[in-house]
Amino acid sequence: MKQDLIVILDLGSTQNTVVAREIREFGVYSEIHPHDITADGLKALENVKGIILNGGENRIVDGAAVQILPELYDLGCPMIAIDYPQSQCAVNYDQIPDRETLKRFIFEDCKAQANWNMKNFIEDQVERIRHQVGDKKVLLALSGGVDSSVVAAMLIKAIGQQLTCVHVNHGLMRKNESESVVKVFRDELHANLIYVDASERFLGKLENVADPEQKRKIIGSEFIRVFEEEAGKLEGIDFLGQGTIYPDIIESGTKTAKMVKSHHNVGGLPEDLTFELVEPLKQLFKDEVRACGVELGLPHDMVYRQPFPGPGLGVRCLGAITRDRLEAVRESDAILREEFAKAGLDKKVWQYFTVVPNFKSVGMKNNARVFEYMVIIRAINTIDAMTASIEHVDWEVLDKITGRILAEVENVNRVCFDMSPKPPATIEFE
Ligand code: XMP
Repeated sequence: MKQDLIVILDLGSTQNTVVAREIREFGVYSEIHPHDITADGLKALENVKGIILNGGENRIVDGAAVQILPELYDLGCPMIAIDYPQSQCAVNYDQIPDRETLKRFIFEDCKAQANWNMKNFIEDQVERIRHQVGDKKVLLALSGGVDSSVVAAMLIKAIGQQLTCVHVNHGLMRKNESESVVKVFRDELHANLIYVDASERFLGKLENVADPEQKRKIIGSEFIRVFEEEAGKLEGIDFLGQGTIYPDIIESGTKTAKMVKSHHNVGGLPEDLTFELVEPLKQLFKDEVRACGVELGLPHDMVYRQPFPGPGLGVRCLGAITRDRLEAVRESDAILREEFAKAGLDKKVWQYFTVVPNFKSVGMKNNARVFEYMVIIRAINTIDAMTASIEHVDWEVLDKITGRILAEVENVNRVCFDMSPKPPATIEFE
């Protein structure tokens, strides 16, 4: 079913997503669009019930205040303006309207229906995907992260065997991670899944490479190469599935907003891309993506997992990657996750992981001198990953984790806890 839509026009506010989220929390679908959208552009969005002119501190672009096209006033669509002095509509606010005012505008002035929920969203997207793809084939790089997993589940529901998923194991995955991707998607959801174990190839390319940026570049470009090789073996693929989500689009910069960071899903696609994109999550915020995954029947652990960088454990095995230290990172990370889950910290702490630096320290094992590596534990909380504070983990929990790491992980004789907030530290070490 088509859902009612409230459009937010970005006239330089820094609060667009806050307003969009608030409207969606009322159960009404909302999208952010650029200020210079045309009347025809708005009509094409279908079911627009109301427009919010959302002004703010970035209103001045190239010395002039941005304005909407006058033709929008003739649409007969209810409008309110927030911090937008040029508006011809009745109400003008300074900041975010309070919830009651927003609610009155949406339900009384716009007469919008609260019909935005995951069931309807999935139904609507399934219909759109089938319409876009027809009887053609779609290829998807399935990393096992939240976004690609939810896209895969959505595409399986919409087009089943017309989807081919490729999972590249770059050898830098966490313990049992690739196995779980295969189990869920191939065995349980019966997806057409190609599993590529490229561990040796990646580790070979990374041998003796110590510079963090160089490591990231090698992992990123090798990943695309492996994926392209697999795609080349398939025939008749016209579409590429992508786990682009709403913040990726917003953070990559709108006309008035300042660019936060360029995102690999939006700006970094190869220029000679010959596929058309299928991006069924591109209007969802992260928590909505998770809700969508749950509704599609994905396991809780897969949908609520903590963020994991694309280069994987490669950026946590510091300096030039060696197999012994990579194993130490993988095993200690598994112990940390297990013990955090037992202590209930997995639901409380935003991100937690271990790091193994590339130097040794002196220690004693079985009455003999040893010279071995150390494991650093990092546990942080953040809202948006731009700043972060450390979790004050109980000594008892840390004690237990330390004991297990020292007893179970080879080549390790020391465990440390990283006390540094971001800034000045970053969340990851490389
Ligand atoms: P930093 O280290 O910059 O990390 O404070 C911020 C957040 O981003 C994650 N991260 C990445 N995520 N690809 C990703 O998808 C990457 O290359 C990458 N590098 C860092 C990091 O884990 C943290 O949550």
